[in-house]
Amino acid sequence: MKLKQNLTLVSLALAMWCTGAVSAEQDKPWMDTHRPAAERARLAVQAMTLDEKLKLVYGYLGADFKEKNSTRPAESHKQSAGFVYGVPRLGIPNIWETDAGVGVASQGGPDARPATALPSGLNTAATWDLRTAQAGGAMIGAEARAYGFNVMLAGGVNLMRDPRNGRNFEYGGEDPLLAGRIVGAQIKGIQSNHIVSTLKHFALNDQESSRTTLNVKIDDAAARMSDLLALQIANEEGNPGAVMCAYNRINGVYSCENDYLLNGVLKKDWGFKGWVMSDWGAVHSTVQAANAGLDQQSGMPFDLSDYFGPPLKEAVQNGWVAESRLDDMVGRILYGLFEHGVVDHPVAPAPQTIDAKAHAAVSQQDAQEGMVLLKNARRTLPLGTGLKRVAVIGGHADRGVLAGGGSSLVYPAGGNAVPGIAPTTWPGPVMYYPSSPLKAIQKRLPRAAIAYNDGLDPAAAANLARDSDVVIVFATQWTGEGVDMETLALPDKQDALVAAVATANPNTVVVLETGGPVTMPWLDQVPAVLEAWYPGSAGGEAIAAVLFGEVNPSGHLPATFPAADAQLPRAALDGLPWVPDRRFDVDYHEGAAVGYKWFDLKGLTPLFPFGHGLSYTEFALGDLAADAKDGIVRASFTVRNTGRVSGKEVAQVYVSPLNAHWEAPKRLAGFQKVDVKPGAAVKASVTVDPRLLAMYDSASRTWRVEKGDYRITLAASAADPKATSTVVHLDAAVYDVNGKRVAGQ
Ligand code: BGC
Repeated sequence: MKLKQNLTLVSLALAMWCTGAVSAEQDKPWMDTHRPAAERARLAVQAMTLDEKLKLVYGYLGADFKEKNSTRPAESHKQSAGFVYGVPRLGIPNIWETDAGVGVASQGGPDARPATALPSGLNTAATWDLRTAQAGGAMIGAEARAYGFNVMLAGGVNLMRDPRNGRNFEYGGEDPLLAGRIVGAQIKGIQSNHIVSTLKHFALNDQESSRTTLNVKIDDAAARMSDLLALQIANEEGNPGAVMCAYNRINGVYSCENDYLLNGVLKKDWGFKGWVMSDWGAVHSTVQAANAGLDQQSGMPFDLSDYFGPPLKEAVQNGWVAESRLDDMVGRILYGLFEHGVVDHPVAPAPQTIDAKAHAAVSQQDAQEGMVLLKNARRTLPLGTGLKRVAVIGGHADRGVLAGGGSSLVYPAGGNAVPGIAPTTWPGPVMYYPSSPLKAIQKRLPRAAIAYNDGLDPAAAANLARDSDVVIVFATQWTGEGVDMETLALPDKQDALVAAVATANPNTVVVLETGGPVTMPWLDQVPAVLEAWYPGSAGGEAIAAVLFGEVNPSGHLPATFPAADAQLPRAALDGLPWVPDRRFDVDYHEGAAVGYKWFDLKGLTPLFPFGHGLSYTEFALGDLAADAKDGIVRASFTVRNTGRVSGKEVAQVYVSPLNAHWEAPKRLAGFQKVDVKPGAAVKASVTVDPRLLAMYDSASRTWRVEKGDYRITLAASAADPKATSTVVHLDAAVYDVNGKRVAGQ
């Protein structure tokens, strides 16, 4: 009897549960894909308990952290950057986060996940090609999804204020327009996989030394016209689901509890609807951070305290953080997930197959498009296939190509080609991808005698060089997260190596694999230099394809190459030598005059100017015409290929005020990469964003164009002797904070 009664109760409960489930299905209006993301987010928040809301704002590290006795959540993916619990009851998935901007990163060891690495971000910026940037993003986003990640911590667009910043290789260079558009295109590509990309690091995290303690001093207008403009443009172009706030303080306040930055600039002024997640270890408070606009704490146990764990619950219960603010935090996270398809296209529970060959081709294309031919006297390049004796020297070119270090490091199939180079622990290991330039060169010269020398002994390298028809010397500069360079000079006595080799054989080609600009005291001694950056998974092939002219180089510098450290706004980088926990100010006194703007302002001659890049053909830029209608400047021009092979030119349009006072004599206002057949001419045009014709006014939060004449220059670099120009007249005009014309002004 008792048993029967129990059974009845069980079936009753089951029936109720089933009905509940059915009605829950019908009662999940936020799963209705026809509703706008904002409405879906609002409806889902309404259905959540306080504890469910709190879960979504608290992120874990997706790896064990031995020093802190912490183990990753069982549901997280091994060796991953982050994990956040979703709300399965409501159909909200867990959030699986992976670094970063060049591919799916791991932390090393035998169970690192093999992935395809794009070339460095700086290489992608050097393509000046939005399609390449977007295709690269689509490829790494597809790998992120295949590995079960639905958030990619990409979109790094910290402006290159100092070429000695160890993390420049992850970013888009020194110009806000170029960096913003390239990184925006990459974000778009990543998110085309129904996953979220971040935009980071918000903001002004422009050096690594003491990044968690330093304080950046800069005024609002200067920031809006430089670093913030790059982020603003990337946000507009890429529409990222999330923004990652940075480690550093700005004008005294940490980025992740900075009301001006998060609530003011990002959410109010730019109308950003997604969520702000912290960088790993960048949170310092509960109430201040939550009320200043931080929506999610990341990577615990990186922070000192679990600020958005129980302390946030207590703060909400006490009313120090309004429950409506918690709802806003959660709503923003859900908005990002709904808007970008994360909820409607859940990632598979087990890793999916990756088409490694196709993905390597995407990476190679990016590398080839971004390598910059810096010098090519006497048409030394491309190399002919009739060479008999070739010397390849240095840079571990016999085994692979260099990558940058830190959280963005992608581990390749086949492992590190040159293991054991210090630092071997974070931000190391120093990684070489197994794509050997030497082998790629050998493949193209099957009958030549090709000798390799490691370059450690300059005298031995010079001896080999002396007996060769041509010498290709590889010079490397490893850079990584958390460390800056003390100098722009190549490390490990490589300048002496190049000089010795070039003295022995003047037919020396230098291939650079560097994080960014370096100085070249031997430049006059060598006829040809190719900047190959960190060229990614297929870098060896890409380098050889350019050296032998199968690919005509078309990369242009996304940053000025200074002639000496002394030309920089800071002769020495602040905070070096590094001392732990030091708190100090970094005064960005140069304001918005970053990179070539600084060089122009001070009348300095760089080693290679911003925008510079040679080709195996020649171009003539001409027929420049510019007009201004309703304040919108449009410039049209012709790019003519006057040489003998097909090639791509990057036509650059700069604007200089003739009456108004700007931070610097000129700004890049538009660019077009055009593919032109020999003897042909292609017409192209650019439309100038009015913010690039204006000064930002902090008091009114508007961009103001001053009445007057403006010189429009068409050039192939920021210091092109063949540049042509014309003048347009602009009436005074006012644009809102996002560059929209204010009626009647
Ligand atoms: C870096 C971020 C990265 C995060 C997660 C931090 O150290 O600054 O760029 O996404 O770690 O690995």
